[in-house]
Amino acid sequence: MTRPCFVANWKMHKTIEETRTYFIALQKKLSELPSQAWDLIIAPPYTAIFSASEQIKALSLPVQLAAQNFHFEAEGAYTGEISSKMLCEAGCQYVIIGHSERRTYFGETNQTVGRKRIAAQQSGLIPIVCVGESAKEREEGKTLSVIKRQIEEAFAETTLGVGLSLVAYEPLWAIGSGKTPMPSDVNKIHQEIAGFFESTLETGKKEIPRILYGGSVNEKNVAAFMKEPHIDGVLAGGASLSAETLVQMIASVVIH
Ligand code: 13P
Repeated sequence: MTRPCFVANWKMHKTIEETRTYFIALQKKLSELPSQAWDLIIAPPYTAIFSASEQIKALSLPVQLAAQNFHFEAEGAYTGEISSKMLCEAGCQYVIIGHSERRTYFGETNQTVGRKRIAAQQSGLIPIVCVGESAKEREEGKTLSVIKRQIEEAFAETTLGVGLSLVAYEPLWAIGSGKTPMPSDVNKIHQEIAGFFESTLETGKKEIPRILYGGSVNEKNVAAFMKEPHIDGVLAGGASLSAETLVQMIASVVIH
């Protein structure tokens, strides 16, 4: 297993005050773990990012921050939007791009995901690009073709250090549903994704991003996913809202 990567996507949860309480609990729980041989990235809502960053520094927490979205333009008349520069200043190192909830509810397309991926990398943010098929696409046997298209458009521009990105495979039907695919099936899909990067995009072996799985991951099932050779980490939603559960997830993977 490579160094496991845990990403906590809080979605539209937690105020600044709730974030403070969470990080205090997180510090206590993380201090009980025997090592720090893992990466932990937390994606709070925009309003809590800056104070989270200050708290991470003050508490010396082994945590990096991600935003859940941004706009690909550097600045301008885009009411309600946030730029990469604002995110970097607030303390983010990563940004989630193309989450299925943004694709479903907010008109994100493969094309905008591609523009965001480039804009993120140009500004020094590491993109976490989400891909995944719907239940209908899965039933129709289109899983791999859907994912392939999403990746091709997100990574059409390959000169920017593709290997620095992360890819999160999140089948839509597994998100928030309590249903998960078999870890071995996810492993095969991750292997295919790595293959797209190797062959289709001609990026070479060194340029294969770390590939995470997301969709109803919790402290009970995470270890089974992380045992698979092509699953480099997980992107958790609901289960990451509790600091205790998040640390239990890490513990179940790193303590044998
Ligand atoms: P759940 O873990 O709540 O299913 O959410 C997954 C997800 O969408 C993470 O980005």
